[in-house]
Amino acid sequence: MSGGSNDYMLSRGFAANGRTTLQHYLFKDGLNYLLHPCIPTDHPHLRIADIGVGTGIWLIELARMLPASTQLDGLDVSFAQCPPKEWLPANISFITQDILAEPPSSLVGTYDIIHVQLFITILRDGNPVPMLQNLMKMLKPGGYIQWAEWDVNTWEITRVASAPSQSNTELEDLREWISTLGKTKPGPSFISSGWITRLPTTFAENGLSSVVVDRQKFAPEIATLLLDTWMMASQEISTNVLDKVGGGKGDVARELIEKVGRNRSNTAFNLQRVVTIGRKSPWSA
Ligand SMILES: C[S@@+](CC[C@H](N)C(=O)[O-])C[C@H]1O[C@@H](n2cnc3c(N)ncnc32)[C@H](O)[C@@H]1O
Repeated sequence: MSGGSNDYMLSRGFAANGRTTLQHYLFKDGLNYLLHPCIPTDHPHLRIADIGVGTGIWLIELARMLPASTQLDGLDVSFAQCPPKEWLPANISFITQDILAEPPSSLVGTYDIIHVQLFITILRDGNPVPMLQNLMKMLKPGGYIQWAEWDVNTWEITRVASAPSQSNTELEDLREWISTLGKTKPGPSFISSGWITRLPTTFAENGLSSVVVDRQKFAPEIATLLLDTWMMASQEISTNVLDKVGGGKGDVARELIEKVGRNRSNTAFNLQRVVTIGRKSPWSA
């Protein structure tokens, strides 16, 4: 299983922090919720966990919408991207926890709601079950899991009508270069993504019921901004991963990124966000 802090593919510097925060705002654009409306949030003493907090922006926003009596916990292997704890609302706590490891007894049966967003680069082996089982242990009976990902299987290139359709293939070339680690791994991608499409079934097989799926593409007017965040993430991967593969593979990626940037005014991509929600039985242990 991939995912410990040592093989994290993305960066934690200021540019990556800006990219992660923008990604959060784009992700919820058009969805218009942090927690799907099927999840009840009217109890004043909910305990909610965000797994893999990034810059902490999801927790910061949620804290503004729920009563101060709600306890909001961020679980992560690193909080380097987050603001100082003393500037955060008092009901936000950070707990260092590798979500791929067995949860300690202090976290078992603790949460009413668990939120996960964008673990695609972490669960690279395509098996979300060990992580899901850990989440199930941390959930109270009757609690909810909301798991949001990009469904990269729905990726499609979009071009303005006047775009040169034959010549600007760099976006597809870059996607292929990144996803095959500079053609050192067999395609279509060394990052598995079929598990994202199957997540509703996996939820049901692991004891979650009342499964709800919300799939939505991004609005065309923000596709270019989404492309920006994707190019920034590609740049992070070019340094953190491809440069280590060697043979100038990181340089090739950066040249392609440069070319994709030149066509930013006419070419982007779109894909569906898929949000999967499930409920643990109120009668389970
Ligand atoms: C791609 S970021 C997503 C951040 C945030 N959820 C968002 O949507 O913007 C992944 C986050 O997961 C964290 N992470 C990586 N491996 C982890 C692990 N094994 N256990 C817990 N968190 C992990 C990273 O430190 C990072 O904060």
